[in-house]
Amino acid sequence: MSKFTFEEVKKALKLDEKSEIWEKDWELSEESFKFGELYFLEENYVGKSCDEIKMKPEIKKLILDYLPVFKSNIALQRLIWHCHYITFVIAKAKKPDIAAWPTEPLDEGMFFPLFFLSGIDFIKKHNAKLGISEEITIDSLVDLELWIIVYKEVTGKWGLRQKHWVANAFLGHIYKLGRLQFKFDPFFIDLNVYRNKKDRRIIVFPYDGIEFRKDGQFNGADKIRETEGIWKSKLEIKDGFIYGNFISPTGIATPEIKKIMQSEWDLILKRDSRCLSVHIPATGPMDFAQCGESFRRAIEFFPKYFPEYNYEGFFCDSWLLDPQLEQYLPAESNVIKFMKEFYNVPVPDAENTVFFRVFGKEQLDVKTAPRDTSLRRSIIKHVENGGRWRDTAFVYFAEDFNWGSQFYRKMWGM
Ligand SMILES: CC(C)(COP(=O)(O)OP(=O)(O)OC[C@H]1O[C@@H](n2cnc3c(N)ncnc32)[C@H](O)[C@@H]1OP(=O)(O)O)[C@@H](O)C(=O)NCCC(=O)NCCS
Repeated sequence: MSKFTFEEVKKALKLDEKSEIWEKDWELSEESFKFGELYFLEENYVGKSCDEIKMKPEIKKLILDYLPVFKSNIALQRLIWHCHYITFVIAKAKKPDIAAWPTEPLDEGMFFPLFFLSGIDFIKKHNAKLGISEEITIDSLVDLELWIIVYKEVTGKWGLRQKHWVANAFLGHIYKLGRLQFKFDPFFIDLNVYRNKKDRRIIVFPYDGIEFRKDGQFNGADKIRETEGIWKSKLEIKDGFIYGNFISPTGIATPEIKKIMQSEWDLILKRDSRCLSVHIPATGPMDFAQCGESFRRAIEFFPKYFPEYNYEGFFCDSWLLDPQLEQYLPAESNVIKFMKEFYNVPVPDAENTVFFRVFGKEQLDVKTAPRDTSLRRSIIKHVENGGRWRDTAFVYFAEDFNWGSQFYRKMWGM
């Protein structure tokens, strides 16, 4: 059969110039492409794969119903083969490549879900080699279905946009251990975490010279840059002491300078430290005990299966850590109980993802937004009061695991 060039595929599928990222490796997948013979587009394979990763029947049906779109479409088959081949056969395409692939117009429809389903064997083998149970492998793939559902909630259509995120699961970058997911990530905030060698307390200082607002947020957080009331952090080591601005475990940076003796404290975390980021997939409520159990498992799992990674701590960056939620939600809310377990810290350039995660929209129209849950009512009320929401982060350490103890807050008398 004659070759189908990248230019021809690009034209046939009306892809924009972003798609040229595929061009450089196009020939690699040329020889092995067999039009009409892609096993992962066969009904049998697709049905079985959806069952294997425990997809809801309606999502499975949706994917199966999409298969005829490929039937006589040589360009689409050639492209999905290319994606499959460079990712799951020769493992040349990595997460940043997948993230850089064009999202539109392929996000609408089941192109990306079928691409990911074609990678089930790849991730199963990858994890089996490491000794990771198939149960964990399969559970970790739940993101595929979840992000198909989000696409529908946000656009009203079926498809998948978050290929860069779903790729984590299929490439072995993220593991779901019970309720929570854990992903290999460097720490991303300019702050130092110190631990006292004797009493094991921890304290968090921002780097030197960072501009904070009077509300204890990085100047520029939630896209607000203030000119009044701002202050600059100091971090100084002098005469055997470390001087720094105290960040309270409730996630607020303060102008208060604390002085600690250098010889008594270890620096245990800083920007780029090897960490595990924590994620809460939308699989239902985040039961507090289940979340604790996830941490217990993670503390066991990562040193056992990834001993060379030797992570230094956990962190999370999320809308649900915004300490302002405490003013609205009851103490027994899962979100509040969760937040209090950690040392919360502000986030530079903090975005506001709460509207998207709670209302499915980037912007909130308080007049029309639904008020059916206490969380939604709280978010609306705060905005009506002139308040702003912004994502907050936490740091957490395996050594401090004692779920339910609110260790860091108690440590600082909060
Ligand atoms: C994170 C999540 C599991 C928390 O849900 P939860 O365990 O029910 O949380 P809480 O117990 O604190 O809920 C308090 C109230 O808010 C409601 N609520 C929680 N999350 C909600 C959401 N995303 N949208 C609307 N309402 C929500 C609950 O139904 C409850 O309402 P009620 O008091 O009227 O009964 C849930 O918000 C979710 O699945 N979000 C999507 C995934 C996500 O945002 N992950 C974090 C990404 S960084």
